[in-house]
Amino acid sequence: MQFAGSIDEVRAAVAEARRHGLAVGLVPTMGFLHEGHTALIQRAAAECGFVVVSVFVNPTQFGPSEDFAAYPRDLQRDLRTCEAAGASLVFAPAAEEVYPAGFCTHVEVEGLSDVLCGASRPGHFRGVATVVAKLFNIVGPDRAYFGQKDYQQALVLRRMAADLDMPVKLVVVPTVRHADGLAMSSRNTYLSPAERTAATVLFQAIEAARRELAAGGRDAAILESRLLAVVSAEPLARIDYLTVADPQTLAPLAGHLRDGVILIAMAVFIGRTRLIDNALLSVPGGLNVDVEGRPGQVAADHNHGCAGRTSRDDR
Ligand code: PAJ
Repeated sequence: MQFAGSIDEVRAAVAEARRHGLAVGLVPTMGFLHEGHTALIQRAAAECGFVVVSVFVNPTQFGPSEDFAAYPRDLQRDLRTCEAAGASLVFAPAAEEVYPAGFCTHVEVEGLSDVLCGASRPGHFRGVATVVAKLFNIVGPDRAYFGQKDYQQALVLRRMAADLDMPVKLVVVPTVRHADGLAMSSRNTYLSPAERTAATVLFQAIEAARRELAAGGRDAAILESRLLAVVSAEPLARIDYLTVADPQTLAPLAGHLRDGVILIAMAVFIGRTRLIDNALLSVPGGLNVDVEGRPGQVAADHNHGCAGRTSRDDR
């Protein structure tokens, strides 16, 4: 596996891979990799001959009072993880390589960036879209891999790529969860043992909504009240947002739900740590589906109640 700290090195390595006729996959990350990231890298390696993983804690997507300085970092461990998962090259640039003095151009995906996580984190998706646009320009991938865990992010980036005619196919990989349902996240390392237990409330809320649909429920307000009841019963949890929304527009749904797919999404503070989770559920029935509308892993793995179940719970 190769390592690059500079844009020139990445471009040279990708050009060489292209000379060998290899398809190029890109997996953008902020490092401190876990099995959610590994699933993306493995998928990329299965579909592309040359896989670039970027490891860059992007300062522009953190608000002034957010956790940029505290964000966990362990490049040596990440390099081992990338190699084991099948990466061809890790690009881990310094901040000045990505944002040299004088940098002043940004990508803004209007509308989709302003709701849900964007409403609580102003400027966040502008930072994400800008850095991912740069990564697309640096690497020039055929395919780029993102997790459904950050559903809104994937939607914003898909829109960006379409609007700006970026010749890259976005692939969205289902959320990988711990055995108790908590979505894997680098931020889970912030949780105390009691908070770690409380953090399962996000998945439990999704499960409550799913059961309501499975029992024939079709009322958006009742679904939302199920989510609210589960999360507010947990003393360590403070709701940022909970929503039953249209998966394409993120607009909140009200009243009787029509046949199709709905998005359940939430951000919840557990102590001081803000966690997010979401699911795409079929109406009627409450089956989990992936972003293509196909039956998702959660449904397939339903006896365990969580997707991407692994034998190792590495918290
Ligand atoms: P990061 O949080 O490191 O996540 C990198 C990628 O891994 C994202 O596409 C995210 O959705 C995916 N991911 C994280 N946890 C996952 C899980 N449990 N299951 C499946 N996929 C998961 O997202 C970012 O970094 C940044 O915003 C980035 C896109 C790199 C731009 O800076």
